[in-house]
Amino acid sequence: MSPKAECLPSAAYAGAASRSRTLYERACKVMPGGNTRHSIALHPYPVYAASGAGCRVTDVEGEERVDFLNNFTSLILGHAHPEVTRAVQQRVASGTAFTMPTETDVALAELLCERVPYVEQIRFCNSGSEAVMLAIKAARAFTGKHKIAKFEGAYHGIYDYAEVSEGPTAGNWGDPADPERILEPGSPPSQADDVVLLRWNHFDQCRAQIERHRDHLAAVIADPVCAGIGMIAPRPGFLEMLREATARAGVLLISDEVLSFRVAYDGALTAFGIAPDLVSLGKIIGGGFPTGAVAGSRRVMSVFDHTGECRVHHGGTFNANPVTTTAGLETMRRMTREAYDGLNALGDRIRERLARMLADSGIGGQVCGRGSLFLAHLNTEPLVDYRSLRGYSRTQPAYLDLCHEMLRRGIMTSPRGLFGCLSTPMTEAEIDAFVGAARESLLAVRGH
Ligand SMILES: Cc1ncc(COP(=O)(O)O)c(C=O)c1O
Repeated sequence: MSPKAECLPSAAYAGAASRSRTLYERACKVMPGGNTRHSIALHPYPVYAASGAGCRVTDVEGEERVDFLNNFTSLILGHAHPEVTRAVQQRVASGTAFTMPTETDVALAELLCERVPYVEQIRFCNSGSEAVMLAIKAARAFTGKHKIAKFEGAYHGIYDYAEVSEGPTAGNWGDPADPERILEPGSPPSQADDVVLLRWNHFDQCRAQIERHRDHLAAVIADPVCAGIGMIAPRPGFLEMLREATARAGVLLISDEVLSFRVAYDGALTAFGIAPDLVSLGKIIGGGFPTGAVAGSRRVMSVFDHTGECRVHHGGTFNANPVTTTAGLETMRRMTREAYDGLNALGDRIRERLARMLADSGIGGQVCGRGSLFLAHLNTEPLVDYRSLRGYSRTQPAYLDLCHEMLRRGIMTSPRGLFGCLSTPMTEAEIDAFVGAARESLLAVRGH
């Protein structure tokens, strides 16, 4: 059903001369579904971007909005930071890609190795999915084992093994002790044998699965913020238990920080006092350009060392391309401890204010997230694991209406839920604008 014109993101978007609609019609002729990235699909057609500056984006109709998505968390300084832009322009003018390494790859690698206690060595690639794939391959090569364990409902990008059971339903998720492995339609059935499913926050289930599969299990992969599982906080001691159980079983722990690296200056697990064996990175370390990285202890990273045994081949035409590493270096240099502290304090503010608004307005709900990340759940049942999310689904129709309402009120958010992230140009005024728009939008959606 098509939404009513007055509920759409703006009159210009809905109107006969809509540029977004015209662009979408052109896109439909040359791309399946008119789309080249499922996660940004919007019904009835996308809002096409024209430009961005700081924490604001302007669409092709000329409407400006505050951007709480930041290209799905990858822009921590917001759009077109003047000094990052200047450095990139200089880089572009003096060549964008070489069949040679550059000084900026070394400098960005040094910065990350200095900051994160569990990053001794690093290699760059071009996306978070690739980083996850390389971490899994490295774990297999290092341990000589082939299975990987992941959390039911967790998102780690589009590598086949990491995609298993990303969105199972009550109809197919099976035994809580040993969940069904739900494959993507394009995956071979044999893949299910090589993946073990864990359940977030279930200490005994995780210990039992790790022990049961220890002889074949290369690694457990976990996103410390668990963005795919509604950002439900780990129970006290849960991540520490994972570290201990994996170490005891001779299984590597991969911390997937593609998204969660933005929560802390020195890595998402440092605050927990634990160190994974490998970490996958992406998003913010590219300063707005495509990137990824696999990193970890020198011992495990040695599987990539071509001067030694070289157990994992790692090519990639654009690995550490100098435009990305220049933008990444300029961005990460600006993300000092103080910059993280300021951003994370704003994160506390938006989580508190959203929770208060949901309670005071009678809408009800609860807010998860850490650092500069937040996600509001519109239910009040205890949230423990993927199965407990029940009412929350990345594709619930109610979120589409909510997204349209938020866009109409000048806030960029997603039809996949009421979540977002902050960027350093934001102030309390933008936080208050988000909370005000969320309140009005939620009440409006109820009236639809
Ligand atoms: C935790 C996590 N891992 C991996 C990925 C994949 O990263 P990319 O989209 O750069 O392939 C994402 C993307 O959102 C992610 O959130």
